[in-house]
Amino acid sequence: MLIIMSAWISVFPTILLAPPKHMWTLATGQGFLITLFSLSWMFLADFNFANSLFLIDKISGPLTILTCWLFPLTMLASQSKMRLEPINRQRTYILNITFLQLMTLLAFTTPDLMLFFIFFEASLVPTMIVITRWGAQERRLEAGMYLAFYTMLGAVPLMIWITKFYSVHGSLLPTLTHTLHITQASTNYPGLFWATYNAAFLIKLPIYCLHLWLPKAHVEAPIAGSMVLAGTLLKLGGYGILRTSPLLQENSLSQTLPIMLIAILGILATALLCLRQTDLKSLIAMSSVSHMNLVVAAVLISSPWSYSGAMVMMIAHGLTSSALFCLANTSYERTNSRTMILLRGTLMIFPLAGAWWLVIVLLNMGLPPSINFTGEMLIMISLYSWSPLAFLIVALNLIFTTAYTLYVLWTTQRGPLPNHIKTLFPYQIREHLLLLLHILPGLLLILNPELIF
Ligand SMILES: *[C@@H]1O[C@H](CO)[C@@H](O)[C@H](O)[C@H]1NC(C)=O
Repeated sequence: MLIIMSAWISVFPTILLAPPKHMWTLATGQGFLITLFSLSWMFLADFNFANSLFLIDKISGPLTILTCWLFPLTMLASQSKMRLEPINRQRTYILNITFLQLMTLLAFTTPDLMLFFIFFEASLVPTMIVITRWGAQERRLEAGMYLAFYTMLGAVPLMIWITKFYSVHGSLLPTLTHTLHITQASTNYPGLFWATYNAAFLIKLPIYCLHLWLPKAHVEAPIAGSMVLAGTLLKLGGYGILRTSPLLQENSLSQTLPIMLIAILGILATALLCLRQTDLKSLIAMSSVSHMNLVVAAVLISSPWSYSGAMVMMIAHGLTSSALFCLANTSYERTNSRTMILLRGTLMIFPLAGAWWLVIVLLNMGLPPSINFTGEMLIMISLYSWSPLAFLIVALNLIFTTAYTLYVLWTTQRGPLPNHIKTLFPYQIREHLLLLLHILPGLLLILNPELIF
């Protein structure tokens, strides 16, 4: 594992020393190489590895692989826009993305809660730099501020909980504390304590009501920022909850019922909000919030099925929403607009891209053989066994999801062709490859879903 980390660190000197002409090729190539290397290592270790520095198990393994996989894809996606910038800016961009990659990888693999906290918070810095320096519009500063403020707000109670946990149990290793008998003084408001301790993770996911930073950050971020944000950073929150929930005694459902209600409401409300978006990126961000609230609901039920549902959902969502952002970016690079109504009728000039839209949007909706469907089904079944009423309410989400899926397809693909998009340059092989590499792992996982259960 240390070798893999050193391999990721070796991207830094490559970028610093690379001749300007070959920098992107080298970064992408090395990214792919290290990813394949990490993947084969993970499979050889069979998702089971623990020493004093790293811990890989069924929760962190799939997320680590997802993080590794997305790095070369972000490199592929950012090339065309970034190439126009001065060389030093390109360098710092790649360096910052690599730094972000390293922080997330370390956060996923560290066995120690304090180190996890540190890397979790450290990932904020490169994200904020990428959004505020390379974002497209002036409001990027506001987006960066929202991001920092929300993250810091959640960090304080988490910090307090971790120190208290350490002073009571004398250890911060979850593997060790699993075997300890954890006793906590019972409190008057147990659910409230659960929510405040987990606030950092709930904000990162984000749960409805605390999600305001996400659409802003997504709309302003450059493509690599959006991909990493949707693909891995949101998953840090889910990973944190899954990791710490066995350590918190007061996580029984009757006590956290208000949170559950917010999550269920959030699933519906954000799916409905998607129908009212005019901005393509903010629509995708809203649909992420909807999916992530399903994860919150699944984690709250805390049965084995709902945990695997949450895992599958996170992996599937990481791949599809990142692919959706790439697609949105390909239209954005051509028309410089994210407004959906201005992108109408592209099916006529880009039929193959139309096919990508169809496939990816259907995956996002959870079409049956896909792993998105598997995740959703597992979560729905555990919801049903908890409360049929909750199941019925969340089932409405399926209708709304279908509705906004159709809305996206119809507004971006159909309709009369506006004059300004008749003279666009065609899709490049790089972009097709990028989308294919997003979908391929999802399709392969259909064959062997045990990998992420
Ligand atoms: C990230 O970008 C900032 C500003 O462009 C730069 O000062 C910093 O060195 C970069 N970080 C890394 C790790 O390269």
